[in-house]
Amino acid sequence: MVNYKELGLVNTREMFKKAMAGKYAIAAFNFNNMEQMQAIIQAAVECKSPVILQVSSGARKYANQTLLRYMAQGAVEYAKELGLNIPITLHLDHGDSFELCKSCIDMGFSSVMIDGSHLPYEENVALTKKVVEYAHQFDVTVEGELGVLAGVEDEVSAEHHTYTEPEQVEDFVKKTGVDSLAISIGTSHGANKFKPEQCTRNADGILVPPPLRFDILKEIEKRIPGFPIVLHGSSSVPQDKVAIINKYGGALKDAIGIPEEQLREAAKSAVCKINIDSDGRLAMTAAVREIFATKPAEFDPRKYLGPARDSLKELYKHKLTNVLGSANTVE
Ligand code: G3H
Ligand code: 13P
Ligand code: ZN
Repeated sequence: MVNYKELGLVNTREMFKKAMAGKYAIAAFNFNNMEQMQAIIQAAVECKSPVILQVSSGARKYANQTLLRYMAQGAVEYAKELGLNIPITLHLDHGDSFELCKSCIDMGFSSVMIDGSHLPYEENVALTKKVVEYAHQFDVTVEGELGVLAGVEDEVSAEHHTYTEPEQVEDFVKKTGVDSLAISIGTSHGANKFKPEQCTRNADGILVPPPLRFDILKEIEKRIPGFPIVLHGSSSVPQDKVAIINKYGGALKDAIGIPEEQLREAAKSAVCKINIDSDGRLAMTAAVREIFATKPAEFDPRKYLGPARDSLKELYKHKLTNVLGSANTVE
């Protein structure tokens, strides 16, 4: 059993407090391998920003939970070596059971998400409370979720809404003791967040998705003032990356994300954590595809993973500076 404090990691409590007061949000970037970890830490150090290293169940299966934890431990030392001791959280993304959350806590994660959003309300409360009771013994912070994010198959419409019900948040937070709450206000996972028919076209012919439900966010803020809110599914799906992927043999169709201006707006509110994974995947894929197509003789993985890592780092720097607003918040 290892406590995250021995590894130099931090939980999200102080980070979120400062983010709330400073009207910015902390980026939670998913990672599965060394290049992604390097890009996240390089970007966060250069931007003087705290950061959350996020590990999904898929990442655990792909890379092994123990290796990822050691990588996060290494990330703390790597940041110092790059010149700044930034706050780094190691967070479990979408934990689906008490056992999984416990296992992560026991091996050094400093924050976990228990995602009971698909369960009936009372079961979500009971499961989340159980995780919180365990986690708080070790000062590990817990993210819960209310409301279900729409997938691309789902209708983001009033009849089929899976938006968070503001009437439930106060009771949920009080009964479970969670430290932050993920909500559903129109974001969704992946690179195809909206169907083209859900969008309108602007004067330049570009598809504009329906806006996030800021009215629900405001209502939630009213009911739990000052409580840290989390947005999942917050990739913006940069169209220049999509175009490069498709130019060099990719087949991404109708890839539409959340406009960055709306995330910038959300970051100024009680939203303290914004999850971004898909945009990083697009940046890396675009870089790798371009190299494979333009330099077909290249076969050293460093020659394509290196540029993919650089592209990822630039994307993350842009996010921290222009979208999350967390740049220059670490002394
Ligand atoms: O919320 C999902 C994240 O993008 C992680 O995705 O489960 O494919 O690792 P993954
Ligand atoms: P995206 O797919 O929009 O990047 O969302 C990632 C996420 O929410 C991870 O939990
Ligand atoms: Zn998510």
